[in-house]
Amino acid sequence: MNPELISIHEVAKSVKEAMETRHSIREYESKPIPEEVLKRIFETALRSPSWKNSQPWKVHIVSGNKRDELASALTEAAKVSTPIPETNWPESYPSDAKKRMFDLGMKIYGVAGIDRKDKEARDQFMLRNFQFFGAPTAVFITSKFDLNFFVGIDFGCFLQSILLLAREEGLGTCPQAALGAFPQVVRNALQLPNEEKVIMGLSIGYPKASSELNRYHTPRESASDLIRFY
Ligand SMILES: Cc1cc2nc3c(=O)[nH]c(=O)nc-3n(C[C@H](O)[C@H](O)[C@H](O)COP(=O)(O)O)c2cc1C
Repeated sequence: MNPELISIHEVAKSVKEAMETRHSIREYESKPIPEEVLKRIFETALRSPSWKNSQPWKVHIVSGNKRDELASALTEAAKVSTPIPETNWPESYPSDAKKRMFDLGMKIYGVAGIDRKDKEARDQFMLRNFQFFGAPTAVFITSKFDLNFFVGIDFGCFLQSILLLAREEGLGTCPQAALGAFPQVVRNALQLPNEEKVIMGLSIGYPKASSELNRYHTPRESASDLIRFY
C-alpha cells in the first residue's frame, strides 16, 4: 500500500495523536452520530480562544431530514450558479502554494479514480461537497461580526478544536469553504437572520471503512524549511 495511505479508523488518544492522524475525510458511513457525542465535541470547542474573548461564532448542527433537504438545495444551487460567498475567498497565491494545490487535486483525483481531463467527473466530485460527502451530519459556522483578519484567526482556532475533538470520538471531518458558497440557501433552510453570515461548514461522521480516498494523507513541507530556532 502507498505509504501516504494511513488509517484513521482508530480513536486518537492524545492531542498529538489526533494532530498526526487527522486528515480530511471525503467518504462516510451513513451511521448517525449520537447527540451526546456531538454535544461533547461542540460544547468543548467553545473553549477555543478568540480576540478579547469576543467569541464570534455560532454553530448549526444539521442531521436527519434537514440535512437531506440542505444537501439537495445546495447541490441544485451549485449546478446552476457560481459561488456567492460572504467571506473573501482568496484569489491569488505564491507559486509554491499553487504547486501544492495542484498536487492536491492530482492526488485526490488519482485516488478517487478520476481522470483529470474528465471535466464532468471532476464536476461530479466537486458536487459531493454539497452532499457532505455522505456524512450524516453537516455543520455550518456563522457570525454576525465584521469579518476582519483576527475574526478569521478566531475561526481557525475554533475549527481546529472541532477537528481534533472529533478525532477523539473516532469521527472524521472535512472542513469546507464550499459550504459557505451559497449562504442564502443555508440561511433560508435554517431560518437565520440576514446579519448572520455563513462563514463555512464541515462534514462530520464515521469514516467509510472501505474507502481508499479516506486513507490519503496529504504531505507537509519539511519542518526544517518552516521552523527556525534562535
Ligand atoms: C478553511 C478550509 C477550507 C476548506 N475547504 C474545503 C472544501 O471546500 N472542500 C474540500 O474538499 N476540502 C476543503 N478543505 C480541506 C483541505 O483541502 C485540506 O485541509 C488540505 O488539503 C490538507 O489536507 P488534510 O486536511 O487532509 O490534512 C478546506 C480546509 C480548510 C482549512
